Amino acid sequence: MEIKKYSRKEFLSFLGKISLGAAITPSFLMACGNGNPTIASRELSSKNLEELKQLVLENLVASNVDDLLLTKGLEYHTIVKWNDKINNDDSFGFNCDFTCFIPLDENNPKDGLLWVNHEYVDPLFVSNYDYLNDKQPRTKEQVDKEMYNVGGSIVRIREENGKWRVVHNDSHNIRITAKTPIKLNWENSIKGKNTVIGTHSNCSGGVTPWKTFLTCEENYDQFYGETEYANDGSTSHRKSFYGWESFYDYPPEHYGWGVEIDPKDGSAQKHVALGRFAHECCTLFQLKDERIVAYSGDDKENEHLYKFISSKPNSLKEGTLYVADTDNGKWIPLDWENQAVLKSTFKDQTEVLIRAREASKLLGATELNRPEDIEIDPVTGNIFVALTNNKSKEDYHGSILKIEEANGNHESSNFSSSIYMAGGDENGFSCPDNLAFDLSGNLWMTTDMSGSVMNKENGPYMPFKNNSLFVIPRYGNDAGKVIRVASAPRDAEFTGPCFSPDGKTLFLSVQHPGEQTTDVNKPTSLWPFDEDNIPKPSVVAITGDLIEKMNTLNEG
Ligand code: FEO
Ligand code: CA
Ligand code: CA
Repeated sequence: MEIKKYSRKEFLSFLGKISLGAAITPSFLMACGNGNPTIASRELSSKNLEELKQLVLENLVASNVDDLLLTKGLEYHTIVKWNDKINNDDSFGFNCDFTCFIPLDENNPKDGLLWVNHEYVDPLFVSNYDYLNDKQPRTKEQVDKEMYNVGGSIVRIREENGKWRVVHNDSHNIRITAKTPIKLNWENSIKGKNTVIGTHSNCSGGVTPWKTFLTCEENYDQFYGETEYANDGSTSHRKSFYGWESFYDYPPEHYGWGVEIDPKDGSAQKHVALGRFAHECCTLFQLKDERIVAYSGDDKENEHLYKFISSKPNSLKEGTLYVADTDNGKWIPLDWENQAVLKSTFKDQTEVLIRAREASKLLGATELNRPEDIEIDPVTGNIFVALTNNKSKEDYHGSILKIEEANGNHESSNFSSSIYMAGGDENGFSCPDNLAFDLSGNLWMTTDMSGSVMNKENGPYMPFKNNSLFVIPRYGNDAGKVIRVASAPRDAEFTGPCFSPDGKTLFLSVQHPGEQTTDVNKPTSLWPFDEDNIPKPSVVAITGDLIEKMNTLNEG
């Protein structure tokens, strides 16, 4: 492992609005990367603050090595890998993404339920379908294998002697797959159904104040295609990449939603009111009267940023969905009843929600550069949105957008926005994707340069080498700097960062190692180096002195 001392770069202030001894989010919400400063507050003691300020972080040099490399003060172990048995019937799915840990007993942070998204599959490994060379379409058996390996997993995990392990066969361990029946939380049926089949494309997510998981359906059109509308209103079907519609005639309109999972029994519902698009994540804020504000991004070039405000306490059904006009700092209501252009184009509010992208464009929403993960700063309440990139606008390295709601009020109709941090050579990262604040309010970030462009000679991504995990410290000499603390195996991206409630573990997914493999006998990665000699998406626990010191809150 090659390490160099961090060289000073342009200082980018992160401290504008921070008052020392600031309010910090309760650990439960923070653990899943969601902030809500109004629910409760704790304070950093002056001793904690001093320790944080003194912390010296070492910047890992960019690497193209096929391994999970960590900076000084961190170590890792693998908790669960693709295809591991989680009980006698079920196995862990493929390409893990969002993770969220909820302790079974709030007084014991070392034993609880871990939700993990399984976003999509690599057919070469999962169904043995050689999509690069096979002239024949997939068989039904191959499609069934792929359907099983997406969705999500709940596994009970426990830490003993410093190592997190899955509690095999625990009654909570279940799989949600592309075949699990899921209710729509909506009055009207969609394509004749109130219960739909399965979830897939599960990218990032969120957690509710009532302790359920949210998993978001992102690139849903890859699995059953998409319905497209011509100017005369006629429709056609755009085929999917995976071709599942050859065997399962499920409408595309059943996917592209935010999905809530109850950890107690795995029961699920899709929240139509949040709109349908390539949902990256869903980040909730609970208002004082317990109404909910939910922020979500549509991760596609030139798509939009949304927020839903409920009209009833703890509802993800009754309320209004808004889309952002960042040019004018306004949230525009996607409200069929009160927007003439929507009334003349769509037949009702359900159609507006299903075709949220078109409705947003009709209302003049701002096109953004792939809005991905969203986090609420637990100290200031500002909203941070990762904008990954937009090649159509020659933005190759992306940025982090900061939204400040007017008067700090999350239900405000107005906001101001600015680029908090730009990707590129100067700041040493490219293509920000997942964000997470830790218990002390430091911002952690993973990157997602795609496997097809990473490490390509003379390409714009060459200097950044493998995707990585970075931290932007909040305090001390390194405040506002971007420091690389982990480097991913070849072709992989880190996803789903989530801190344990005691701040001693960072759960992290390693997604699509070896994604550029074209021959399963010669994989481009062998991580995590187990006896099968193939790459396996896995969830790891990152621990060590550095994590504990950065989450110093517990020591006060
Ligand atoms: Fe699945 Fe937008 O990352
Ligand atoms: Ca993502
Ligand atoms: Ca991404």
